[in-house]
Amino acid sequence: MGVAGLNLTQGRLHVAAPYLIEQDWKSYTPEQHAIWAELVSRRMPQLREHACSEYLEGFDIIGLKEDQLPDLKAVSARLQPRTGWQSTPVSGFLPPDAFFEMLAARMFPTTTWLRGRDSLEYTPEPDIFHDVFGHVPMHAHPVFGNFLQHYGKICAGLMHDPVALEKMGRVFWFTVEFGVIRQNGKLKVYGSGLISSHGECTRVIEGGAEIRNFDVDQVMNQVFDTGAMQPVLYAVESFEQIYEATKMAEARLG
Ligand SMILES: [Fe+2]
Repeated sequence: MGVAGLNLTQGRLHVAAPYLIEQDWKSYTPEQHAIWAELVSRRMPQLREHACSEYLEGFDIIGLKEDQLPDLKAVSARLQPRTGWQSTPVSGFLPPDAFFEMLAARMFPTTTWLRGRDSLEYTPEPDIFHDVFGHVPMHAHPVFGNFLQHYGKICAGLMHDPVALEKMGRVFWFTVEFGVIRQNGKLKVYGSGLISSHGECTRVIEGGAEIRNFDVDQVMNQVFDTGAMQPVLYAVESFEQIYEATKMAEARLG
Protein backbone atom coordinates (compact mmCIF):
# COMPACT_ATOMS: atom_id res chain seq x y z
CA MET A 1 0.00 0.00 0.00
CA GLY A 2 1.11 3.57 -0.50
CA VAL A 3 1.41 6.15 2.25
CA ALA A 4 -2.30 6.97 2.09
CA GLY A 5 -3.12 3.26 2.38
CA LEU A 6 -0.87 2.89 5.40
CA ASN A 7 -2.61 5.78 7.14
CA LEU A 8 -5.96 4.16 6.44
CA THR A 9 -4.78 0.90 7.98
CA GLN A 10 -3.25 2.66 10.97
CA GLY A 11 -6.55 4.40 11.52
CA ARG A 12 -8.18 1.07 12.32
CA LEU A 13 -5.49 0.12 14.83
CA HIS A 14 -4.45 1.69 18.10
CA VAL A 15 -1.84 -0.29 20.02
CA ALA A 16 -0.50 -2.01 16.87
CA ALA A 17 -0.17 1.14 14.73
CA PRO A 18 3.48 1.91 15.68
CA TYR A 19 4.59 -1.54 14.48
CA LEU A 20 3.25 -1.26 10.93
CA ILE A 21 5.83 -0.88 8.18
CA GLU A 22 5.94 -0.95 4.38
CA GLN A 23 7.41 -4.02 2.72
CA ASP A 24 10.21 -2.84 0.42
CA TRP A 25 9.78 -5.73 -2.02
CA LYS A 26 12.17 -4.33 -4.61
CA SER A 27 15.04 -4.41 -2.11
CA TYR A 28 15.08 -8.22 -1.89
CA THR A 29 18.20 -9.53 -3.62
CA PRO A 30 18.39 -12.35 -6.21
CA GLU A 31 20.09 -14.43 -3.50
CA GLN A 32 17.09 -13.89 -1.18
CA HIS A 33 14.64 -14.93 -3.91
CA ALA A 34 16.85 -18.00 -4.44
CA ILE A 35 16.70 -18.86 -0.71
CA TRP A 36 12.88 -18.54 -0.80
CA ALA A 37 12.79 -20.84 -3.85
CA GLU A 38 14.96 -23.38 -2.06
CA LEU A 39 12.80 -23.25 1.08
CA VAL A 40 9.61 -23.77 -0.93
CA SER A 41 11.03 -26.56 -3.08
CA ARG A 42 12.26 -28.39 0.06
CA ARG A 43 8.76 -28.37 1.56
CA MET A 44 6.31 -28.83 -1.32
CA PRO A 45 6.80 -32.55 -2.15
CA GLN A 46 5.97 -33.53 1.45
CA LEU A 47 3.17 -30.98 1.79
CA ARG A 48 1.41 -32.08 -1.40
CA GLU A 49 0.98 -35.44 0.31
CA HIS A 50 0.65 -34.51 3.98
CA ALA A 51 -0.78 -30.97 4.25
CA CYS A 52 -4.55 -30.56 4.61
CA SER A 53 -6.45 -29.73 1.44
CA GLU A 54 -7.37 -26.24 2.72
CA TYR A 55 -3.70 -25.30 3.03
CA LEU A 56 -2.91 -26.41 -0.52
CA GLU A 57 -5.96 -24.60 -1.91
CA GLY A 58 -4.99 -21.48 0.04
CA PHE A 59 -1.47 -21.61 -1.37
CA ASP A 60 -2.93 -21.27 -4.88
CA ILE A 61 -5.64 -18.78 -3.90
CA ILE A 62 -3.17 -16.27 -2.46
CA GLY A 63 -0.91 -16.69 -5.48
CA LEU A 64 2.31 -17.75 -3.77
CA LYS A 65 5.14 -18.28 -6.22
CA GLU A 66 7.72 -20.98 -5.81
CA ASP A 67 10.62 -18.92 -7.18
CA GLN A 68 9.96 -15.44 -5.79
CA LEU A 69 9.43 -13.85 -2.38
CA PRO A 70 5.80 -12.80 -1.89
CA ASP A 71 4.68 -9.21 -2.37
CA LEU A 72 2.32 -8.77 0.60
CA LYS A 73 0.16 -6.22 -1.22
CA ALA A 74 -0.50 -8.76 -3.97
CA VAL A 75 -1.19 -11.50 -1.39
CA SER A 76 -3.68 -9.28 0.46
CA ALA A 77 -5.35 -8.24 -2.80
CA ARG A 78 -6.21 -11.89 -3.47
CA LEU A 79 -7.02 -12.78 0.13
CA GLN A 80 -9.14 -9.85 1.26
CA PRO A 81 -12.05 -10.34 -1.18
CA ARG A 82 -12.39 -13.97 0.01
CA THR A 83 -12.19 -13.78 3.79
CA GLY A 84 -11.44 -10.17 4.71
CA TRP A 85 -7.92 -11.10 5.84
CA GLN A 86 -4.76 -9.19 4.95
CA SER A 87 -1.11 -10.06 5.37
CA THR A 88 0.11 -6.85 6.98
CA PRO A 89 3.83 -6.04 7.25
CA VAL A 90 5.16 -5.35 10.75
CA SER A 91 8.58 -4.52 12.14
CA GLY A 92 9.03 -7.71 14.19
CA PHE A 93 7.66 -9.35 17.32
CA LEU A 94 4.56 -7.55 18.61
CA PRO A 95 3.51 -7.22 22.24
CA PRO A 96 0.44 -9.39 22.91
CA ASP A 97 -2.13 -6.56 22.95
CA ALA A 98 -0.95 -5.35 19.51
CA PHE A 99 -0.88 -8.90 18.13
CA PHE A 100 -4.45 -9.62 19.27
CA GLU A 101 -5.70 -6.27 18.03
CA MET A 102 -4.43 -7.10 14.55
CA LEU A 103 -5.96 -10.59 14.53
CA ALA A 104 -9.28 -9.12 15.65
CA ALA A 105 -9.05 -6.71 12.67
CA ARG A 106 -8.26 -9.61 10.26
CA MET A 107 -4.74 -8.36 9.70
CA PHE A 108 -2.04 -10.98 10.10
CA PRO A 109 1.16 -9.41 11.47
CA THR A 110 3.75 -10.45 8.91
CA THR A 111 7.51 -10.11 9.17
CA THR A 112 9.35 -9.10 6.00
CA TRP A 113 12.91 -10.32 6.72
CA LEU A 114 14.09 -13.67 5.37
CA ARG A 115 16.36 -16.18 7.11
CA GLY A 116 19.84 -16.75 5.70
CA ARG A 117 21.11 -19.86 3.97
CA ASP A 118 22.71 -21.00 7.24
CA SER A 119 19.30 -21.46 8.94
CA LEU A 120 17.07 -23.04 6.29
CA GLU A 121 15.51 -25.46 8.77
CA TYR A 122 14.87 -23.28 11.79
CA THR A 123 14.82 -19.67 13.02
CA PRO A 124 14.00 -18.80 16.63
CA GLU A 125 11.99 -15.75 15.50
CA PRO A 126 9.44 -15.95 12.70
CA ASP A 127 10.52 -14.68 9.27
CA ILE A 128 8.54 -14.14 6.07
CA PHE A 129 8.83 -17.82 5.18
CA HIS A 130 7.28 -18.95 8.47
CA ASP A 131 4.66 -16.19 8.38
CA VAL A 132 3.55 -16.28 4.75
CA PHE A 133 4.32 -19.82 3.61
CA GLY A 134 3.43 -21.26 7.04
CA HIS A 135 0.41 -19.23 8.09
CA VAL A 136 -1.26 -17.15 5.38
CA PRO A 137 -2.64 -19.88 3.04
CA MET A 138 -4.97 -21.01 5.85
CA HIS A 139 -6.44 -17.49 6.06
CA ALA A 140 -8.10 -18.10 2.69
CA HIS A 141 -10.38 -20.65 4.38
CA PRO A 142 -13.54 -18.91 5.67
CA VAL A 143 -14.02 -21.01 8.83
CA PHE A 144 -10.35 -20.88 9.79
CA GLY A 145 -10.36 -17.13 9.09
CA ASN A 146 -13.40 -16.64 11.34
CA PHE A 147 -11.79 -18.74 14.06
CA LEU A 148 -8.57 -16.72 14.02
CA GLN A 149 -10.37 -13.37 14.09
CA HIS A 150 -12.55 -14.51 16.96
CA TYR A 151 -9.50 -15.83 18.79
CA GLY A 152 -7.85 -12.38 18.57
CA LYS A 153 -11.01 -10.68 19.80
CA ILE A 154 -11.30 -12.96 22.83
CA CYS A 155 -7.64 -12.54 23.80
CA ALA A 156 -7.79 -8.75 23.36
CA GLY A 157 -10.53 -8.82 26.00
CA LEU A 158 -8.45 -10.93 28.39
CA MET A 159 -5.41 -8.65 28.68
CA HIS A 160 -6.15 -8.15 32.39
CA ASP A 161 -6.01 -11.91 33.07
CA PRO A 162 -2.56 -13.51 32.53
CA VAL A 163 -3.75 -16.98 33.57
CA ALA A 164 -6.55 -16.95 30.99
CA LEU A 165 -4.16 -15.62 28.35
CA GLU A 166 -1.71 -18.42 29.03
CA LYS A 167 -4.49 -20.96 28.50
CA MET A 168 -5.50 -19.24 25.26
CA GLY A 169 -1.84 -19.25 24.21
CA ARG A 170 -1.96 -23.06 24.43
CA VAL A 171 -5.03 -23.11 22.16
CA PHE A 172 -3.04 -21.06 19.61
CA TRP A 173 0.02 -23.30 19.94
CA PHE A 174 -1.87 -26.56 19.41
CA THR A 175 -3.95 -25.24 16.50
CA VAL A 176 -2.43 -22.34 14.53
CA GLU A 177 1.18 -23.33 15.17
CA PHE A 178 1.15 -27.13 15.54
CA GLY A 179 -2.32 -28.25 14.50
CA VAL A 180 -3.10 -31.53 12.76
CA ILE A 181 -6.40 -32.65 11.25
CA ARG A 182 -7.85 -36.00 10.16
CA GLN A 183 -9.03 -35.99 6.53
CA ASN A 184 -10.19 -39.12 4.67
CA GLY A 185 -8.74 -41.34 7.37
CA LYS A 186 -5.30 -39.75 7.21
CA LEU A 187 -3.46 -37.36 9.49
CA LYS A 188 -2.74 -34.04 7.74
CA VAL A 189 -0.85 -30.99 8.99
CA TYR A 190 -2.09 -27.41 9.03
CA GLY A 191 -0.09 -25.68 11.81
CA SER A 192 2.56 -23.27 10.54
CA GLY A 193 5.30 -24.85 12.66
CA LEU A 194 4.70 -28.15 10.88
CA ILE A 195 4.08 -26.63 7.45
CA SER A 196 7.34 -24.64 7.53
CA SER A 197 9.66 -27.16 9.25
CA HIS A 198 10.77 -30.26 7.36
CA GLY A 199 12.27 -31.96 10.41
CA GLU A 200 9.31 -31.44 12.74
CA CYS A 201 6.75 -32.36 10.07
CA THR A 202 8.64 -35.52 9.09
CA ARG A 203 8.78 -36.64 12.71
CA VAL A 204 5.01 -36.16 13.12
CA ILE A 205 3.97 -37.97 9.93
CA GLU A 206 6.33 -40.82 10.77
CA GLY A 207 4.54 -41.31 14.11
CA GLY A 208 7.09 -39.59 16.37
CA ALA A 209 4.50 -37.60 18.32
CA GLU A 210 1.56 -38.82 20.38
CA ILE A 211 -1.63 -37.70 18.61
CA ARG A 212 -4.61 -37.12 20.88
CA ASN A 213 -8.14 -36.16 19.90
CA PHE A 214 -8.57 -32.40 20.24
CA ASP A 215 -10.21 -31.46 23.51
CA VAL A 216 -10.22 -27.80 24.43
CA ASP A 217 -10.01 -28.40 28.19
CA GLN A 218 -7.01 -30.68 27.77
CA VAL A 219 -5.36 -28.24 25.38
CA MET A 220 -5.85 -25.28 27.73
CA ASN A 221 -3.97 -27.23 30.42
CA GLN A 222 -1.24 -28.74 28.22
CA VAL A 223 2.08 -26.99 28.87
CA PHE A 224 4.54 -26.87 25.97
CA ASP A 225 8.19 -26.11 25.34
CA THR A 226 8.75 -23.77 22.38
CA GLY A 227 12.37 -24.88 22.05
CA ALA A 228 11.76 -28.63 21.75
CA MET A 229 10.09 -31.01 19.27
CA GLN A 230 6.45 -31.47 20.32
CA PRO A 231 5.81 -34.77 22.16
CA VAL A 232 1.98 -34.41 22.07
CA LEU A 233 -0.26 -32.94 19.36
CA TYR A 234 -4.05 -32.67 19.08
CA ALA A 235 -5.99 -33.70 15.98
CA VAL A 236 -9.27 -32.07 14.97
CA GLU A 237 -11.88 -33.58 12.64
CA SER A 238 -12.81 -30.25 11.03
CA PHE A 239 -12.02 -26.54 11.28
CA GLU A 240 -15.52 -25.92 12.62
CA GLN A 241 -14.27 -27.83 15.66
CA ILE A 242 -11.56 -25.26 16.54
CA TYR A 243 -13.96 -22.38 15.96
CA GLU A 244 -16.47 -24.00 18.34
CA ALA A 245 -13.69 -24.83 20.80
CA THR A 246 -12.65 -21.18 20.87
CA LYS A 247 -16.19 -20.21 21.78
CA MET A 248 -16.17 -22.84 24.53
CA ALA A 249 -12.86 -21.45 25.84
CA GLU A 250 -14.38 -17.97 25.81
CA ALA A 251 -17.32 -19.17 27.87
CA ARG A 252 -15.00 -20.88 30.39
CA LEU A 253 -12.63 -17.92 30.77
CA GLY A 254 -14.85 -14.88 30.21
FE1 LIG B 1 3.76 -18.86 13.74
